[in-house]
Amino acid sequence: MKDNFTKKDLIIEMEKRHREHRMHHQKNYGHHRKHNMHHREFHKEMVDRKLNELFFLHKYMKIFRKITLIVSIVIILFLLKVIGFKMATWIIILVLIINEGTIVYMISRMEKRFVKPMEKLQSGVRKIADGDYTVRLEADTKNEIGILTREFNKMASKLEEGEKIKMEYEENRKALLANVSHDLKTPITCINGYVEGLLENVVSKDNVDNYLKVIKSNAEYMNRLIDDLFLFSKLDMQKLDFKFEKTNIKLYLNDIVEEFSFILDEKEIKFSYEESIDTETFVNIDGKRLYRSIRNILDNAIKYGLGKENLKIEMMLYKDKDSIFIGIEDNGFGIEKDKVDKIFQRFYRVDKERTKDLNSTGLGLAITKEIVDAHKGEIYVSSEVNIGTNFTIRLPIFKEDKNNGE
Ligand SMILES: Nc1ncnc2c1ncn2[C@@H]1O[C@H](COP(=O)(O)OP(=O)(O)OP(=O)(O)O)[C@@H](O)[C@H]1O
Ligand SMILES: [Mg+2]
Repeated sequence: MKDNFTKKDLIIEMEKRHREHRMHHQKNYGHHRKHNMHHREFHKEMVDRKLNELFFLHKYMKIFRKITLIVSIVIILFLLKVIGFKMATWIIILVLIINEGTIVYMISRMEKRFVKPMEKLQSGVRKIADGDYTVRLEADTKNEIGILTREFNKMASKLEEGEKIKMEYEENRKALLANVSHDLKTPITCINGYVEGLLENVVSKDNVDNYLKVIKSNAEYMNRLIDDLFLFSKLDMQKLDFKFEKTNIKLYLNDIVEEFSFILDEKEIKFSYEESIDTETFVNIDGKRLYRSIRNILDNAIKYGLGKENLKIEMMLYKDKDSIFIGIEDNGFGIEKDKVDKIFQRFYRVDKERTKDLNSTGLGLAITKEIVDAHKGEIYVSSEVNIGTNFTIRLPIFKEDKNNGE
């Protein structure tokens, strides 16, 4: 935290690794696709061949049965003539027994290889139809039914996965609804109480102003919560129109820094800006929305640093080969390790009691992250209790040939 250079280096290193991983993944993806295509073609060929074999066998059996019938009649006539009626009867009985035995054996084999697995498949399908996607069948035969069973298992696991995602989404929706209801109910109850107090004339003249102020601040909070919710849900559903424009990042940030230094000067908070970009560098951004992101981080640094001695906020801008980095760092109270991963979640507030007075909705960083994501960027945070917090936004540098800044 004290040494900016090591932290910058760390972020650049993290970014490099991430990129290498992505490139490796992309390279492998092509290979996998080819491999999968091969695999699919091979699979199709095998099924085709098996079907052809089956058709051949079927045709062959039809002719074969007719021939065996004629041959059998000839043999019986021959036996009757040569060895006499009694002997021939015994031989025929023997042949019939062998024949029946073979048929029974064949049927039991068929049952084991086809009928039983088919029954299992049928009961599996019924379970799926009843909504039980956890069902998996043992694919112990190598024939067509075995292939079908394996395909059935694949289908079941896909359905199960889809169901899981749906449940998670549903849980999320319920949590969101509960949060919104709670966060709206609190100020409404408060406003109601204060208005009742005023109507019943139990408030002293000196206190009326205070009552009205509380009512106003609660109404403002509700207004902000609804605005934020509206913005967040639009971002979440990717329904927000962004107006991306090729922008000189140095000039863009200079304007913001000027405004911030004015705001912080008024609040008597120390502020510094450090910039290390020597060439003209462009990014593809929606200036207004990105401002919202950066402003959220600054507002947090002020809001959660209040009361800390010698509070200082630093901003920085630097770049590597493909990206620019905007850092905002404070030496405030910091965030505990187990909580820092959660701060981008909507409605998450580290200290619910304290933030109640600070007019906080817990949507700020969730919105910030959505906006950065829409810019194909990333946001990192590192924080240490009592030392401070650093937020860094990474944005891809605009590349003319690709025309989209990625
Ligand atoms: N610079 C910081 N220092 C300490 N804590 C922080 C800092 N920035 C964020 N936090 C913690 O992260 C939580 C989430 O921040 P976020 O901006 O999402 O919500 P909020 O500030 O509570 O609400 P909103 O921004 O909507 O008013 C905050 O409640 C706060 O506890
Ligand atoms: Mg905030």
